[in-house]
Amino acid sequence: MTKPNLRVHPTQTLHGDLLPPGDKSISHRAVLFSALAKGTSRIRRALISGDCERSLAAVKALGCQVRIGDGIVAITSPGRFELQAPDQAIDCGRSGTTIRLLCGLLAARPFASRLVADPQLARRPMARVVNPLKRMGPSQIRCATAGGAPVELVGGPLKAIRYRMPVASAQVKSALLIAALDAHGVTEIIEPGPARDHTELMLEHMGALVERIRLTTGHCVRILGPVGALSPVELTVPGDPSSAAFWVVAATITSGSDVWLRDVCINPTRDGALKVLERMGADIERHNPRVEHGEAIADLRVRSAPLRGLRIGGEEIVTMIDELPVLAVAACVAQGPTVVTDAAELRVKETDRIESTANALRAIGAQIVSTADGWQIEGGQFLGGFASSAGDHRIAMALAVAGLVGKRATCVKDFSCASDSYPGFVSHLRALGARAHWES
Ligand code: S3P
Repeated sequence: MTKPNLRVHPTQTLHGDLLPPGDKSISHRAVLFSALAKGTSRIRRALISGDCERSLAAVKALGCQVRIGDGIVAITSPGRFELQAPDQAIDCGRSGTTIRLLCGLLAARPFASRLVADPQLARRPMARVVNPLKRMGPSQIRCATAGGAPVELVGGPLKAIRYRMPVASAQVKSALLIAALDAHGVTEIIEPGPARDHTELMLEHMGALVERIRLTTGHCVRILGPVGALSPVELTVPGDPSSAAFWVVAATITSGSDVWLRDVCINPTRDGALKVLERMGADIERHNPRVEHGEAIADLRVRSAPLRGLRIGGEEIVTMIDELPVLAVAACVAQGPTVVTDAAELRVKETDRIESTANALRAIGAQIVSTADGWQIEGGQFLGGFASSAGDHRIAMALAVAGLVGKRATCVKDFSCASDSYPGFVSHLRALGARAHWES
C-alpha cells in the first residue's frame, strides 16, 4: 500500500477559529479508567484517533461495552474486579500510552494477558514500567528480552512500593498509580520533573484520594490502597495542547495571521510550549480561562510575531516534550540561535525524535544539528523540497507547518501517520487558509 504524501504550499497568512481535537492523553485515560468503574462512563469530545482506538479496543477486549454516537463515547464496565480475561492478545498498535497504562491496569487482575505492538512501538522501552510493577508483586510480568513489547502478565495481589522514577514519565507514573489502587499500603512515586498529571486529576474526579507533595528533590504522588469502588467517568475532554501547538507556531511564523483556538487544555504540566513561545516573542492571548474536572482550559488567540532564539532545557522540558518538533520549526525561523538540552527522552518516542526532527528539517533547508540531548539550531529560512515523516505523526505535522513558510512547496512523505493523534489535521490546515494537497 502506498502511503500518501502531503504537499504544502507557502502561505501568506492564516485566519480562522478552530476547535482542536480532544486531548490524546486525557482521552486514553478516560477510556481506560472507564473500565475501572462499574457502570456507564460518558466521555464527550474524546479523541478518536489511531492511538486512542487501541485503548477503546482494549477495554472491549476486557469485557466493557463501547457505544459511540452524538459526540459521546459511552463505556459500560462491570467494574475493575469483574473485568474478563481477553481471549486473545491485546494489540496496542503504535500507542505507547495504551500499552504502558494497560500494564498498570492489568497488574492486579487475576488472569493472563499478552500485550502486543507494531514494530515502531515494540522498539520502545517497556522495562521502565515492567520493572517497578514487578516489585509490586503480580504473579508474573515480563517484557521481551530487548526490553520492549510484547508484555506478558498474570495479575495478582499487589503490595505498595516507594519508587523514585529515573526519568519524568507520565506513562510510568500512571501505570504505577493505577496498580496502586489495588496495592496494600501507601504507594509513593517520586518523579524528577512535573510530568503531566491527568491521571491524578482523573482518579480524584472518580473518587480516589491522591496526595501530591512538592519536594526539593522532585514531585511526590501517594495513594493509600486498596481504593474502593470508583465512580464512572463523566467528562468533556478539552482540546489537545500538543495538537494546538501546530497552529500556535503556524500562526506565529506566517505573516499577518490571526487564529483562535478554542477550549485548549492549558494544564501547567502541559503548557511549556506556550511559555517558551512567549519567551521567544510570540503573541498568544489566553481568553476565558476556566477549570473543568481539575483541568485548566482557555481559548487562545495567536497573531503573527517575530521570534528570537533562546536556550530551552531543565525541568520544564517535560511540560513540552511532544511539542519539541514543532518548537524546533519555530526556532528554525527565529532570529539567532536556539539550544535545546535535557531532552534525551525524545530518543525513545515514536521515533528517535532528536534525529528524525533534525533530518526532516535539514532536508528542507534548516540549519539544525542534533546533540546527545537536543539540538543546536541557527535561525534562517526553510527552502522547501521533500522530507520524510519517518512514520512519526508529530514530525509529519511539524513539517507541514514548516512548509507554510518555505521558499517553495514542501512535500511531506508518508503523511498518513498524522491520524495517530490528529485525524482532521489537513482539513484544519485548509480551513485556516493554507493550500495543501495529497500526492501518492
Ligand atoms: C503521555 C506521556 C508522555 C508523552 C506521550 C503521552 C501520556 O510520554 O510523550 O505522548 O499520555 O502519559 P512519557 O510518559 O513517556 O514521558
